[in-house]
Amino acid sequence: MDNFRITGNRKLSGTIEVSGAKNAILPVMAACLLAPGKSVLRNVPNLIDLKTMSHLLRVIGARIDHNGSTMSIDAKDICFNEAPYELVSKMRASIYVLGPLLARLKEARVSFPGGCAIGTRPVDLHLKALEALGAQISIDHGYIHAKADKLTGADIYFEKSSVGATINTLMAAVLASGQTRLLNAAMEPEVDQTIDILVKMGAKIEGKGTTTLIITGVDDLFPVEMTMIADRIEAGTFLVAGALSTEPVTVKNLRPEHLGSALDKLREAGCELLIGEHEITIHPPSEIKPFNLITLPYPGFPTDLQAQFMVLATLAKGMSFIEDTIFPDRFMHVAELNRLQAEIRLDRNIATVRGVGKLSGAEVMATDLRASAALVLAGIIAEGETVVSRIYHIDRGYDRIEEKLNGIGAMIRRENG
Ligand code: EPZ
Repeated sequence: MDNFRITGNRKLSGTIEVSGAKNAILPVMAACLLAPGKSVLRNVPNLIDLKTMSHLLRVIGARIDHNGSTMSIDAKDICFNEAPYELVSKMRASIYVLGPLLARLKEARVSFPGGCAIGTRPVDLHLKALEALGAQISIDHGYIHAKADKLTGADIYFEKSSVGATINTLMAAVLASGQTRLLNAAMEPEVDQTIDILVKMGAKIEGKGTTTLIITGVDDLFPVEMTMIADRIEAGTFLVAGALSTEPVTVKNLRPEHLGSALDKLREAGCELLIGEHEITIHPPSEIKPFNLITLPYPGFPTDLQAQFMVLATLAKGMSFIEDTIFPDRFMHVAELNRLQAEIRLDRNIATVRGVGKLSGAEVMATDLRASAALVLAGIIAEGETVVSRIYHIDRGYDRIEEKLNGIGAMIRRENG
């Protein structure tokens, strides 16, 4: 397993670019199963999770070609309706094939996703919604078995805002007969991009950008081309890198409108932001101010940036409080950051971070994707050397992160473990 060896105390400055959004591409790849023929996606980075999804779609019968930043998905002949355990256990987003397979092949078997490092992560909302559309669902031998000769539109209220359940239900409802209304639907930009591709394919969906989506079923969808949105979480990670620096850093190829709550927190921490149409230049403060943060569904502060902002809080002058309401167990990075001499106390889902002004390099272990990104940021500013092990987590969602950060002054070496 690869490690990152990071030489600390580096000053960052310059320009860094953001790639396409993993969490938009994953559902959009699944959505391509709904349109027989070849769809083309642009601005697709090279990520392990996208390779896992490509593998899964190939198992189902699609043809995938990923060349540079262009991916084509030919879903003409999909024939196999099963998502096997070995792929679902690698990546929970495999559950995204459930809705499209059910809609197109009338039956799907998807391995039941287990828990993961950030918590238990149930899929009950996905299953309830598909049942409401008329699917018969059973769980046998660790597999979700969904069957529906016909899907019929329904009113579905989500008890909790869920990105995955909203998207999975959308992908089934677009080919259902009649009208479906999704209430308390998630509004994340990744949901919007899935709506955009479905509409381009011929689906009828109203209410994008709101919590009520109205879908009128159609008989067929057609393959399309689409450019994927920038990854707001990668952008936020790089903005935190800039906030931790002493010189301005420009983050390019992003969508500022997707980052509102994170930008507010950066300003609260004392950063000055120059916002362009597709780029933000961050001027770090001479002294980072403490801040309080609570993760919420979009447009609230994203749980996927919680760990990175915790690193910022470790350098603040004073106490910061960080609460995760989306994944209350997503705090594996706390113990690792404390190994770097941060002072973080965890009480259930609230971390109290006493700013220490300076971190000290050590060996730490990446536990999940965003925690790994946080450890890399911490390593860059810590005194001495930090070795982050198990970085396969970071390769799941960041394309060449060490190359990109080295381009603005970091010193990160990948070592084959
Ligand atoms: C998506 O996960 C993202 N993954 C996650 O990013 C992200 O952290 C999360 O949304 C929240 O923004 C992908 O897009 C592939 P949810 P998802 O359903 O869809 C509960 C990363 O680092 N819930 O919006 O699985 C759930 O437990 C990853 O890139 C149910 O109770 O998240 C959570 O508390 C990690 N039952 C809340 O809803 C369900 O059936 C929101 O989860 C589904 C969810």
